[in-house]
Amino acid sequence: MKTPEDFLKERGFIAAAEIDRDALISTFMSEMEKGLAGKPSSLPMIPSYIGVDGKVPQGAKAAVLDAGGTNFRSGIVTIPPAVEDRANQPMPGVKKEVGVDDFYSALAEEVRRVKPLATVEKIGFCFSYPADATADLDAKLIRWTKGIKAPGIVGQFVGKELLSRLGGGKIAIVNDTVATLLAAKATEGDKEYSSYLGFILGTGTNTAYVERNSNILKLSGLDPAGKMIINAESGSFDKIARSKFDLAMDAKTQTPGSNPFEKMISGAYLGPIGLEIFKAAAKEGFFSKQAAGRLSGLATPTLETIDLDNFVAGFKKPDRTNPLDVIFADATDAKIARRLALPVFERAAVLTAVHLAAFVIKTGEGVSASSPVAINADGSTYYKTKAVPFADLVRRELDDILVKRRNIHYEITPQVEDAPMVGAGIAAML
Ligand code: BGC
Repeated sequence: MKTPEDFLKERGFIAAAEIDRDALISTFMSEMEKGLAGKPSSLPMIPSYIGVDGKVPQGAKAAVLDAGGTNFRSGIVTIPPAVEDRANQPMPGVKKEVGVDDFYSALAEEVRRVKPLATVEKIGFCFSYPADATADLDAKLIRWTKGIKAPGIVGQFVGKELLSRLGGGKIAIVNDTVATLLAAKATEGDKEYSSYLGFILGTGTNTAYVERNSNILKLSGLDPAGKMIINAESGSFDKIARSKFDLAMDAKTQTPGSNPFEKMISGAYLGPIGLEIFKAAAKEGFFSKQAAGRLSGLATPTLETIDLDNFVAGFKKPDRTNPLDVIFADATDAKIARRLALPVFERAAVLTAVHLAAFVIKTGEGVSASSPVAINADGSTYYKTKAVPFADLVRRELDDILVKRRNIHYEITPQVEDAPMVGAGIAAML
């Protein structure tokens, strides 16, 4: 009888131990270079027009919006970093499709609430979707990710549209990875870092890092001695082999074919990949008749990552019924199901580490242990996954790939609370 591991391999699933780290790093780096040169690449490498040298004014208060993924938050960011007067609601377009006017009305209403409480003129806006940045920090939405249904906004300058509905004003829009990078910089105290990464692994994923202007070949007229934060949109990396399960899951998303790398590591997709594995394994006879029957009768067409994660970890959340505990009630079924799903989390951790390593290497810094490259990580998948000790696995890989084998030094900074909002506030103050 075939083992669960053979079954996964046979369908193109590359287990964590089998991932060719060096090859993947080289491919990532070459995609980065192409993206920076404006050549065709799966990594858009979006210049943010923000450097990391500005001084954050102590005592300032900025009004901030945070369109994070499935949540839309607002509040006041103060320095030293804290968030006051918060509000949180579902992101417009997450539950049902919204039109252009309703979309901006929801945003404008929150600006009207928080703006009078701020001391700086600019509104900070953390916008966690792929968007081209302009030199005056507006954002032109390239496409939605995370299942947001507001098609009329694609291609619009979100800041300009919002301000026109507010009757004027100033805004600084930054991607959440850029904001997270800025937040790490603002809270570093007297630490000495040679460079910075902002990394998000939640519903979606992405990385921002600091690049030398002289390497950003697609922009002319930059000060060659300067540096700028680049929003890589690393989730859209596509030079990676995907299994049958990844492809089957992708085909059922609202955006088939887009963001392949994100769909292998981030929270919106790990549960759905697990479900594809379970369904295919049931057909191969891995489970009892009862389990197979219950699987095919699963009421919701998808499986949430939180349920797959809790199930693999053997954790029963008191206030939540986990469909997998019902489906795999039999101990033998449960054991096989865990063996089939654990590799999904292990693979995500190794891919996370390998791509972070590529960005650390790309900074060209971290040559001395006394000034490492700072990685500020944020997001629920990175911090809350239980199936594997996610952050520990990432660190172990980075130690090996960067420190032992390349003598490049990095440090994962302590988590900055509300990093995306704080960073957007900082962008408004700079
Ligand atoms: C978006 C990025 C964002 C990331 C993390 C992705 O789906 O394309 O812009 O930074 O999610 O929130």
